[in-house]
Amino acid sequence: MKNALVTTLALIATCPWICRADEETSTSGGTAAQLAMTPPMGWNSWNAFEKDIDEKKIKAIADAMVRSGMRDAGYIYLVLDDAWMAKRRDRKGRLMADPEKFPNGMKAIGDYIHRKGLKYGLYQDRGKMTCQQLPGSFGHEKIDMETFAAWGVDYIKLDSCFAESNGRMSSEDYAIYRKHIRATGRPIVLSISDFGNAAWAWGGKESAQLWRTSNDIYPWMGSIYACADTSAGDRAIHPAFNGLWQFAGPGHWNDPDMLHVGNLKDLKGDRKKVGDRAHFSLWCILAAPLMAGNDLRTMSDDVRHVLTAPELIAVNQDQRGVQGYKVFDDGDREVYNKPLSDGTTAVLLLNKGAEKADVTVRWDQIGLSGTQPVRDLWARRDLGECEDSFTARDLGQHEHRMLKVGRPGPPLPTPAPMPLEKYTVTRPGETYLSDLYYIWKARNAPAYDATFGGGPITIGGRIYKKGFGCKGKSAFMFKVAGRADRFRAVVALDGTSQENAQGRFRVYNEDFFANKILWDSREMTKNSPAREIDIELDDVQCLMLVFDGDKAFGNWANARVIDESD
Ligand code: GAL
Repeated sequence: MKNALVTTLALIATCPWICRADEETSTSGGTAAQLAMTPPMGWNSWNAFEKDIDEKKIKAIADAMVRSGMRDAGYIYLVLDDAWMAKRRDRKGRLMADPEKFPNGMKAIGDYIHRKGLKYGLYQDRGKMTCQQLPGSFGHEKIDMETFAAWGVDYIKLDSCFAESNGRMSSEDYAIYRKHIRATGRPIVLSISDFGNAAWAWGGKESAQLWRTSNDIYPWMGSIYACADTSAGDRAIHPAFNGLWQFAGPGHWNDPDMLHVGNLKDLKGDRKKVGDRAHFSLWCILAAPLMAGNDLRTMSDDVRHVLTAPELIAVNQDQRGVQGYKVFDDGDREVYNKPLSDGTTAVLLLNKGAEKADVTVRWDQIGLSGTQPVRDLWARRDLGECEDSFTARDLGQHEHRMLKVGRPGPPLPTPAPMPLEKYTVTRPGETYLSDLYYIWKARNAPAYDATFGGGPITIGGRIYKKGFGCKGKSAFMFKVAGRADRFRAVVALDGTSQENAQGRFRVYNEDFFANKILWDSREMTKNSPAREIDIELDDVQCLMLVFDGDKAFGNWANARVIDESD
């Protein structure tokens, strides 16, 4: 896979440099259209305190945001995560503050936050309960959005626990909130928290300004890198896309989750600083929302310097809003590029590997040539002019350089975004899904036009040239964009599965949350006869194929959709 990625990146790097087509304004509409034109910045209570929040603590955080210079560095939103609310609604069905934690109510804490020159954020959940089993918004969407607006809320993090009982697809759910938010007339940022459930594919940007691309982040480097790779790598999308950069821009951002700068538990002493910086540089180059998650009351100067580094924040907040993308990745060493509005470009050279390493960026990988000025953004120092390339030498694990390269001038082009015909259904008749790149995946990626082991897909003695081979658990989604009237395939466990293997094939409309299962093979064994799928699809935007196998390999032979229009 890594080799394939390096090849893909090499291709992207050598492709003609064409301006991206999707530099458009947000389609969120109404007052929301101008929101989050750069990635939102703020602080959220979850990573530091989890459920343990109260009025005194939150006021002290607001004070610290001002005193530490965080607010003036751009961290404007103070967001209270789960567990601020009472266990019950009031008699009119309105949410109430937990009376012990917030005795003066949620409007009062919001007023305090506003008086500090900050903006007020609250967590809620679209299911019947929040993740901490407090009242969720399902069935109360309108009144909750009205209540939030009356409290002066400026930002809502809308989580997804228990949303699988809503019976609505994520796109439907979030559209309901956007409608009710719009009706309040208050400009409120909506942050989709759904553990990375493909909002870039099903149209998160129609309703929200940011969406999670990952599962929850934890305070160790493996988790930091895994989250970054949902946005920048092939953890959540086909490697040919080179990450999710083409789905982000002003007003709609990929969110690899909140920051753990200052919280890292797997590094000690000076190494902690190295890890904090790598984490922050990654989030800056990826144009990720910067939601600090440390206890600001006790923040060390080292951590404050990381979070408020002006030249790093300037890269994140660059008004052009291009999400950085990899131009090199060999598994340990990575190089990212983020063209900026002033004609220069930000470059991150990172060594994730245990061995010391040199990491090089060549100007032709970032759309430049000849001799270029280079600036070190952490040191805030010009490093002079470099010809053709720059090499960061002897980088230890997690060490990196964050650079600005080039001269002010017209903005540098980005690579061409993946063309629609490579990942959506664009023509009448049959489209083999294995001729399209999947737009989302979880767990094992499928093999294309082969079994997972690389052999020909063979079912009942017949060899199928097209289809997918899966192993274990494997879910992947195609954007069929309402152009698929039927889905057809033949499914069976592969002959190489273990004797006692079991597996189940399911076809979903859009996502797990809605539970809209269009076809279900039920448990199959190696001896089960192949099953033929031929189902009608009605206005399906995203089609998800799920194989759930235990010691099993499963094949989706001849998986294809049919557009029956003339
Ligand atoms: C999770 C969410 C976390 C946090 C937590 C609160 O689902 O991903 O960021 O909000 O719920 O219970």
